[in-house]
Amino acid sequence: MVKKISIIGSGSVGSNLAFHIISHLPLVKDLVLIDTAGDLARGVALDLEDTRGFLGFNTKITGSKNYSHIKDSDIVVITAGAARKQGMTRLDLFKINCKIVKQVSANIKKLAPTAIVVVVTNPMDLINYMVHKFTQFDRRRILGMGSVLDSSRLVNIIHQKTKVCPDSIEGYTFGLHSKDMIVSSDKIKIKGEPITKFCSLADLAKIQQKVKMRGAEIVGFLKKGSAHFAPSLACFNLVQAVCHDRGEIFPVSAVLKGEFGFKGFSAGVPCVIGREGIREIVEFELDEAQKQSFLEIKKMFQDTLR
Ligand SMILES: NC(=O)c1ccc[n+]([C@@H]2O[C@H](COP(=O)([O-])OP(=O)(O)OC[C@H]3O[C@@H](n4cnc5c(N)ncnc54)[C@H](O)[C@@H]3O)[C@@H](O)[C@H]2O)c1
Repeated sequence: MVKKISIIGSGSVGSNLAFHIISHLPLVKDLVLIDTAGDLARGVALDLEDTRGFLGFNTKITGSKNYSHIKDSDIVVITAGAARKQGMTRLDLFKINCKIVKQVSANIKKLAPTAIVVVVTNPMDLINYMVHKFTQFDRRRILGMGSVLDSSRLVNIIHQKTKVCPDSIEGYTFGLHSKDMIVSSDKIKIKGEPITKFCSLADLAKIQQKVKMRGAEIVGFLKKGSAHFAPSLACFNLVQAVCHDRGEIFPVSAVLKGEFGFKGFSAGVPCVIGREGIREIVEFELDEAQKQSFLEIKKMFQDTLR
């Protein structure tokens, strides 16, 4: 049973995730928020605690800059790091956040050696791979959150176009969590029927493009910071899937070791999620375009990590 969850980084995504946990997972005994910025985590923890009168949870909430509090966590979520600013390349951001995550990973390895780790920090697929390298944890215990969010964006945008109830729309993205994600029509169904029964091919192309650019579209409007409501809920869905151990399937960034014919990088692929993390990677035959995308991901990893 999951008794203790720690969140590293108490900014927009981390604090919202914490709120979902105290609202919906009453059996979690300990929730820890860590942030290196002044007393931010303490302040966020107190604010969250003050919802107890409304929500009635028993969870103990601790906010600190001191990593010792994460000791023996069952799940650790990494949201610590900078977000991409205008003019910054993926490589620039990777260099900044890789340093942060190296230190975070060392603490997790030392203090919570059996934890399931959920990685949110961008560029997520690269960072997810590095967390695996730094911690040396079994790759099934490292779950990258990105395609889960992109898939919810996909369902929303299909709903906007077709007006079909979101519950009847099933679709997911895979590959990278970036504008280079794979949005294949064969992974989208509306009550089991192809999406082209509900919209034209031209509309489908617009939907695919809009999903790929959604993160940038939001950043463009917000000016400061990036999306956090949908990301924190996407992250909560993964945390909940681990806690409930029901074998839910989500597209999760996983370190590949031969699945789909690829190894040596991390990318979003459908996974069965359980208490042990990734219970199983659900493989399927990649078509030529998808294979090409995976080859490009591999090259991007090689170029970045060289
Ligand atoms: N994977 C996804 O789908 C997804 C979605 C949204 C955001 N993100 C990424 O998640 C990260 C966090 O986003 P945010 O909007 O919450 O940012 P934020 O700036 O609001 O919060 C990040 C927090 O991390 C803290 N931090 C920095 N170094 C730390 C360290 N060593 N230990 C502990 N805390 C540390 C900062 O003080 C800050 O409070 C960013 O990298 C962002 O790009 C990913």
